[in-house]
Amino acid sequence: MGQNRKGSERIRPDWKSLKRGLSLYRYIRPYRGTFALGMLFLFMSSAASLAFPKFLGELVNAPSSENFLDKVQEIALLLFGLLLFQAFSSYFRVVLFVRVAEKALAALRQATYDKLLRLPMAFYGGRRVGELNSRISSDITQLQETFTITLAEFIRQLIIIVGGITLLMYTSVQLTLFMLAILPVIVIAAVLFGRFIRKYSKRVQAEVADSNTIVEETLQGMATVKAFANEHYEWTRYREKTNEVARTAIKGGHYRAAFSSFIILGLFGAVVAVIWKGSLLIGQGAINSGELFSFVLYSSFIGGSIGGMADVYAKIQKAIGSTEELLDLFEEEEESLRIEFNDRPERPLEGALRFEGVHFSYPGRKEMEVLKGIDLHVEAGETVALVGSSGSGKTTLTNLLLGFYPVNSGRILVDEKEIGRYDLSEYRKHLAIVPQDVLLFGGTIAENIRYGRTDASLEEVKAAAEKAFALGFIEEFPDGFDTVVGERGVQLSGGQRQRVAIARAFLKDPSILILDEATSALDSHSEAEVQKALEELMSGRTSLTIAHRLSTVRHADRIIVLEEGLLVESGPPDELVQRPSGRFRALLEMQQR
Ligand SMILES: Nc1ncnc2c1ncn2[C@@H]1O[C@H](COP(=O)(O)OP(=O)(O)OP(=O)(O)O)[C@@H](O)[C@H]1O
Ligand SMILES: [Mg+2]
Repeated sequence: MGQNRKGSERIRPDWKSLKRGLSLYRYIRPYRGTFALGMLFLFMSSAASLAFPKFLGELVNAPSSENFLDKVQEIALLLFGLLLFQAFSSYFRVVLFVRVAEKALAALRQATYDKLLRLPMAFYGGRRVGELNSRISSDITQLQETFTITLAEFIRQLIIIVGGITLLMYTSVQLTLFMLAILPVIVIAAVLFGRFIRKYSKRVQAEVADSNTIVEETLQGMATVKAFANEHYEWTRYREKTNEVARTAIKGGHYRAAFSSFIILGLFGAVVAVIWKGSLLIGQGAINSGELFSFVLYSSFIGGSIGGMADVYAKIQKAIGSTEELLDLFEEEEESLRIEFNDRPERPLEGALRFEGVHFSYPGRKEMEVLKGIDLHVEAGETVALVGSSGSGKTTLTNLLLGFYPVNSGRILVDEKEIGRYDLSEYRKHLAIVPQDVLLFGGTIAENIRYGRTDASLEEVKAAAEKAFALGFIEEFPDGFDTVVGERGVQLSGGQRQRVAIARAFLKDPSILILDEATSALDSHSEAEVQKALEELMSGRTSLTIAHRLSTVRHADRIIVLEEGLLVESGPPDELVQRPSGRFRALLEMQQR
């Protein structure tokens, strides 16, 4: 109960969070007509349930009236009509509320997903994706329950309490006040007591689980236990834990026993007290027995509703907590993106790059500077190879070029314009990346290649696959391009995945190409093949290629050596190989050894 995220302390409903929560009303607004109609049915069915005890009371009184057969018939028919009415209005209430809630939630889900897509990479750096995903879905489920059940419960109970008390006042003010003086106190006490007991039994369960862990560990590590002759130690550990379980559970037994005594004394005592007082009033001629009967029924309705209110209150608090977290997400700063079809960019980009004094550290690790002042100019159409030891910042450099993170200081210009001043979605259409670890989405191979440009035709997809030397293995699958890959389909090998990613890049036909270890997962035969494909892909566009296997970077126009976030060497491959105490030469010699 109390272990929902951040506990219930933080989410005491205050005005600010209530106001923020009400901003979610805009998702219901389009369906407010339906919602109002649902409310009407809710009122009707609640009002109908209030009429029951009244008529039941009259039914009790009926035998003492003159033509009692007619009377009984009449009331029974009325009650049946009432039931019919209630059944009818409950049906429509549920249907209408579910309708509004589901439509509003679909809109909310869509808005949340849209928001997530717009958040910058910096947002994702510091979070576990699975956690984020489950949090959002549980928050939305919470709201779903609130809209479909909790809200209706709340209103129904309110009507029963207010309406019930009003009706009782008509019957007898004296008896009503008497009932109100005892019943609510006892009901609320019972609710709180019940909650305490539930919490306590959770504690017992947790202790039992602890003791089971001991057994489990011991059985799994039996060899270790025996090797160290620690049987006695384990036995003592288990004995202490199980004795503790017994002590806690016995104490819990006392609480449970007290609870049932309390129910007997308190709740049934209250009923006895009300009937006792009522009988006195009957004796005085203030009320009749039918009225007392309906009085007792109303009282139990009211008692039930008061008890229910406590639950509803807890649920609403939880819902406010969920809303808060969702609204926090909505307040995160987003990238400037237009979310639209990924088609061919309107204007071409030359692809000239310029890094000017770029310093950068990841938002998640501010204190560690990854790039320490990079100055780099790449002409349009040039092929530049980035080399350097692991962790030197090569991938980071390409992340910045993609506009994933803002730089700490310095500038990155593409065609002499800072990338921050481009529209990001338009700008990224000019870039293609074959990343270090290729992620394929669950779907067909064709869909995965088409990810490069979603409006491409199947012919274009096939042509791209052919250029990437992927056609061969794709056509070997019985389903060809329709082969489903990923978790629920064929698992592609690392090299196959890389070739799908290369096909994506071919399809995108970008101005700037980034290859991050694009052939690292290939054997030397396939690598030679794919290397040819890549050279074709690189020609005529600006390319940044990262490679550990230095033999593959010899075709580059220029090689850049990165070392701990600094650019330490730059020049054409032939020249760097010759340079007597050059860094590239040192790296090369190390690899050849
Ligand atoms: N998302 C991140 N958050 C914080 N630090 C990061 C993040 N990604 C990378 N780093 C750190 O930045 C440094 C540079 O990483 P980068 O991935 O750019 O190296 P690399 O040169 O591509 O290495 P490799 O050749 O192994 O791929 C490393 O020290 C790494 O730990
Ligand atoms: Mg890398």
